[in-house]
Amino acid sequence: MQTINSPPAFRQKKRPPLLALFALTLAAVLFLFVLPALTQQPVVLTMLMQGQDIANWRPFVREFEQKNPDIRINLVEGPFDTNLIENLYTSAFLLGDSPYDIINMDIVWVPKFAAAGWVIDLTDKIAPKQLSKFISGNVEGGRYRGRLYRIPHASDAGMLYYRKDILEQAGIAPPATFEEMASISQNLQKQGKTTWGYLWQGKQYEGVSAMFVEVLAGFGGFWANPETFEVGLDRPEAIKAVEFLKSTISSRISPPGVTTYGEEETRLLFQSGQSLFLRNWPYVWRLANAEGSRVKDKIAIAPMLSSIGQQGGSCLGGWGWGISKTSKHPEQAWRAIQYLTSEETQRKFILETGLIPSYRSLFTDNEIAAKYPHYPQLLKVVEKPALRPPLAQYAQASDILQRYLSAAFTGRMSSEKAMKAAASETRNLLGSLRNS
Ligand code: GLC
Repeated sequence: MQTINSPPAFRQKKRPPLLALFALTLAAVLFLFVLPALTQQPVVLTMLMQGQDIANWRPFVREFEQKNPDIRINLVEGPFDTNLIENLYTSAFLLGDSPYDIINMDIVWVPKFAAAGWVIDLTDKIAPKQLSKFISGNVEGGRYRGRLYRIPHASDAGMLYYRKDILEQAGIAPPATFEEMASISQNLQKQGKTTWGYLWQGKQYEGVSAMFVEVLAGFGGFWANPETFEVGLDRPEAIKAVEFLKSTISSRISPPGVTTYGEEETRLLFQSGQSLFLRNWPYVWRLANAEGSRVKDKIAIAPMLSSIGQQGGSCLGGWGWGISKTSKHPEQAWRAIQYLTSEETQRKFILETGLIPSYRSLFTDNEIAAKYPHYPQLLKVVEKPALRPPLAQYAQASDILQRYLSAAFTGRMSSEKAMKAAASETRNLLGSLRNS
């Protein structure tokens, strides 16, 4: 009989079993909906930061990830010195396809990174009203030719730390001028109250330029004018500034080692109780007042010094985030930046770390000021800045200054010869810009 003799395939075709239909539908559902959902990986954003910053930011980055499960942030730990980090970024950008999505920028890199087209223009992403809540110097430091490339997450300003216990005991008021600071130091060194008077950063790196703009401003001088390209490094005020720093070494107010010290070396020496005064950034406050520090509860801060009759100022530093032009995930990177730079996150971050806000209101916030009583004073320091010139070629200009300052500090050149050479090279650099 035909039915009995028909091949099995023919029989199946005639009556597709329900089970097969069900299996087929299930497979389709799995393939189209369930599998993609299961295998969809979160977007990974890569962010390079200095080691000490990563430790501070990690909990807030994790908090962001918990609230945004579609995004992961891969934190890459870099070295301490700002120019070493800048070199890492620069070589990554020059190679073409930067592995970094979120760029943690020092205030002095913005013109260079923006001019090179390495970072995205963020101007239209943030309302002017929101921007006006930040310290204006920090916002301006994020602009290049009127466009915004960086949202500030931390302010920084050079300041004077001093041993209030020693000064109080000696009945001496904190100094306002370099000259007073030098004579107080020598006086108390002679009495055996302190080993060293003043610690500053004299190593050949970006920190020496930052330190020097303050002394330069303190003697009424200037480095370079970013608009007129005028250079002031060989003017008498600039030479006096170098001479003053050299004199701290020759009169043993400062240890000879300052010519090789960066921020950390000077902090550690101050923290071990060996100096009366220190020039450094605000990050020192929390570490110097931590358990185990010899100067815990014995220190105070003051705005940066100036010479008699001069105004002076603190070098404005600070960090902020931008987005790499080559990032494949700019939208997600912006979400992360918005979260991490919100006032609410920053408030928690500051309470946790004792670092310096970029929002003005946080300096006088009740809870913050109760925990860090020096913050309202700090606001004055941050709002009276001495700027490093915002040039696209800032890295080269700073490199010139660093080399000649180092030559002068270590006695390889006289202050005058060194500053004349620094000025002439800087003029060549800026001249070639003017002609380009
Ligand atoms: C701090 C400042 C930065 C400066 C650097 C120099 O990190 O925030 O602006 O360039 O010190 O060492």
